[in-house]
Amino acid sequence: MDYESTMRLLRGRGQEGLLRYYEELNEEEQKALLAQIERLDLSVTEQLRRPQNLSGKGEILPIDGLKIAQIEAQKQAFYARGRECVRAGKVGAVLLAGGQGTRLGSDAPKGVYDIGVTRPVYIFQCLIENLLEVSKDCGAFPPLYIMTSEKNDRETKAFLKEHAYFGYPRQEVRFFMQDVAPCTDGVGNLLLEEKGRVATSPNGNGGWFSSMLRAGLGEDVERRGIEWLNVFAVDNVLQRIADPVFVGAAIESGVNCAAKVVCKACPEERVGVLCLEDGKPNIIEYYELTPEMAHARGENGDLLFTYGVILNYLFRYSKLKEIAQKQIPVHVVKKKIPYIDEKGEKVLPQTENGYKFETLILDMVKLMETCLPFEVEREKEFAPIKNKTGTDSVETARALLEKNGVVL
Ligand code: UTP
Repeated sequence: MDYESTMRLLRGRGQEGLLRYYEELNEEEQKALLAQIERLDLSVTEQLRRPQNLSGKGEILPIDGLKIAQIEAQKQAFYARGRECVRAGKVGAVLLAGGQGTRLGSDAPKGVYDIGVTRPVYIFQCLIENLLEVSKDCGAFPPLYIMTSEKNDRETKAFLKEHAYFGYPRQEVRFFMQDVAPCTDGVGNLLLEEKGRVATSPNGNGGWFSSMLRAGLGEDVERRGIEWLNVFAVDNVLQRIADPVFVGAAIESGVNCAAKVVCKACPEERVGVLCLEDGKPNIIEYYELTPEMAHARGENGDLLFTYGVILNYLFRYSKLKEIAQKQIPVHVVKKKIPYIDEKGEKVLPQTENGYKFETLILDMVKLMETCLPFEVEREKEFAPIKNKTGTDSVETARALLEKNGVVL
């Protein structure tokens, strides 16, 4: 798009401020700015005019899942079924590593964070070593798709290359970049992060499948005959990936999707809970559950709304393709956004000054129509690293890793 058409487009949206410094840019920068604006989805700002209310939920009921004891009782059968599937190359792994790790306070990709004590132990290394164990057991390497973002793509690729993919075969590793969305100030004006660059932020982990398809990886998945994608977060260093027992349980249950869950430690625990909403699986945030629901218990004394999600899902590929065109909700999130002000000076805000726009993977579960909650032991499979200290931190993850025999 040339300058005139870009200006027309921006005027139509009241966002012509993005070209405020156009005349000051050199030819190359001008071209880059116009190209960036053309690529961005400017319509996300319309979300600010929509009420972000949480009412309008349907009828919420508990969902049936597999508890640890039930899994134990059928473990051999699930394992045999799942192992056969992994061995036949029908399971792919998708690592969501496009986040920004703001809470960890590091600019680097989260996966390159070293959590070792006496030796370097990187987050990526923990995950790949977990996957290598399954590969050895099943006699096949599940293809590993890694989602990066514009901000961390180069560093992620260089880091993994430098560490020889921690022993994973290079030909089984594919990268794809997630999209970004523009950021606004508090009243909806799009911001510039440089005079020739619109401020953007990764568009949330809900865009993983569309970004994967856009990168042409759908063909790769189909050519390899992959039937299930195990999607997981970068920050849980204890999780099992392409776990044969989980895969077997999903196949045996005939569902389109399965979620690893932990039973809530207490009614107030701040975790999204897998439930049924109007008969469809859905994840309800902790603040959306009424206190009555959060405390409700069944005849055996267990909490009824208990299945906390840990961002480790199995998705049936054929169903993903079917829902690929469906729109998932865009969430508006307050954020500190550095920007160029009207005097042309860079501002680094100390408090949240604007909004970023994200879609979330948990909103895909509903579209999958059926989902099996699969309970795992917290102490064995859930060590998320969100913060530097305190809950869900490097410290808590180290303690859990050591408990599970990992030398740090
Ligand atoms: P979180 O929601 O914990 O966000 O991501 P984050 O970006 O890692 O960390 P904070 O909130 O800035 O501190 C959950 C998972 O989703 C991925 C993350 O990499 C992590 O694996 N993610 C998140 C993406 O891949 N892209 C995104 O845009 C956001």
